[in-house]
Amino acid sequence: MSPHSLSRRPEAPVPVIFYFFGAVLFFFFTLPVNGWRPWPNQKPNATELIYGGSKKYEGSSEFVHLKYHMGPVLTANITVYPIWYGRWGNSQKRIIRDFISSFSAVESKHPSVAGWWKTVQLYTDQTGANISRTLHLGEEKNDRFYSHGKSLTRLSVQSVIKSAVTARTRPLPLNPKTGVYLLLTSDDVYVQDFCQNVCGFHYFTFPSIVGYTLPYAWVGNSAKLCPGTCAYPFSVPSYMPGFKAVKSPNNDVGVDGMISVIAHEIAEVSTNPLVNAWYAGQDPSFPVEIADLCEGIYGTGGGGSYTGQMLNGEDGATYNMNGVRRRFLVQWVWNHILNYCSGPNALDQ
Ligand SMILES: *[C@@H]1O[C@H](CO)[C@@H](O)[C@H](O)[C@H]1NC(C)=O
Ligand SMILES: *[C@@H]1O[C@H](CO)[C@@H](O)[C@H](O)[C@H]1NC(C)=O
Ligand SMILES: *[C@@H]1O[C@H](CO)[C@@H](O)[C@H](O)[C@H]1NC(C)=O
Repeated sequence: MSPHSLSRRPEAPVPVIFYFFGAVLFFFFTLPVNGWRPWPNQKPNATELIYGGSKKYEGSSEFVHLKYHMGPVLTANITVYPIWYGRWGNSQKRIIRDFISSFSAVESKHPSVAGWWKTVQLYTDQTGANISRTLHLGEEKNDRFYSHGKSLTRLSVQSVIKSAVTARTRPLPLNPKTGVYLLLTSDDVYVQDFCQNVCGFHYFTFPSIVGYTLPYAWVGNSAKLCPGTCAYPFSVPSYMPGFKAVKSPNNDVGVDGMISVIAHEIAEVSTNPLVNAWYAGQDPSFPVEIADLCEGIYGTGGGGSYTGQMLNGEDGATYNMNGVRRRFLVQWVWNHILNYCSGPNALDQ
């Protein structure tokens, strides 16, 4: 039993388009690699295709064929190197640093980020080695003056990473084996496909651009550009009149919204760093990965337009797990043993 108070969000009547939300998978076959966004804004008819009409909870389905494609996964002590691109406040950095430090903080109060990470640890490589239990915050790089401008393409994102690892002063270490380079763009930076198709993505750098193959992820602060899309449910888009935004746990809608996207990308980069390990779907250029399968699901009963049962703090904030010094709202990830999405705040655990 959970000692926490639970909030079941009212199920407001919504346009039929959102009833298909739980199965946005269809879109991942038509999106750029590793794209992420919480709401489909095109005609969704994914449910039937992927879930075969299954109406079970939390994405559970015998129709999801997540497979291991024999590539490497991150099995050794992962180091995350944040690159702060643009203008970042210290309070914003602290929220994100505390979140990254929470992955391995096993002493955190239940339900915890470390408990959430346990589902990711269930994935193994061909030698049977699990995803690393430990993940820690490495060196950081500031790119305060927008070295590649305020509008980045997928390729210029790699150039930003190159600048960070080749900087004359305090370059980030080169760590292709256990490093994850996390590019975080401030709320005045546009990145190709941001808001339309994606809130974040992960990939690896090309030796021709950076000189090395480095797994990386990008996540943008959507506060100014599209909080209703990328910081949902702390902000709600105007086309969803029946929904009310919930209070964010760290009083920063943009950054609290980034937390779940950072979790999404780190879970996927760890289980599919070179995009040849764990994914579903026929086409490796459009892989459906372990967090894609559980988008928008934050608690028991989640799916469709419903986030699932979350927790309510005494201050009125909505969250679903605890970490270092703070509370966070993080989407669940696919558990390939149980064959459904799972998270530490599940009611049946
Ligand atoms: C979506 O799927 C439903 C149920 O299978 C079907 O009735 C409907 O015609 C489909 N809509 C579109 C736009 O293809
Ligand atoms: C992981 O790496 C960090 C930094 O080098 C180190 O402090 C930590 O003890 C390592 N953890 C494990 C379990 O090796
Ligand atoms: C490692 O992965 C296997 C297979 O999924 C799982 O049974 C085992 O519990 C995992 N170990 C850890 C420490 O998570």
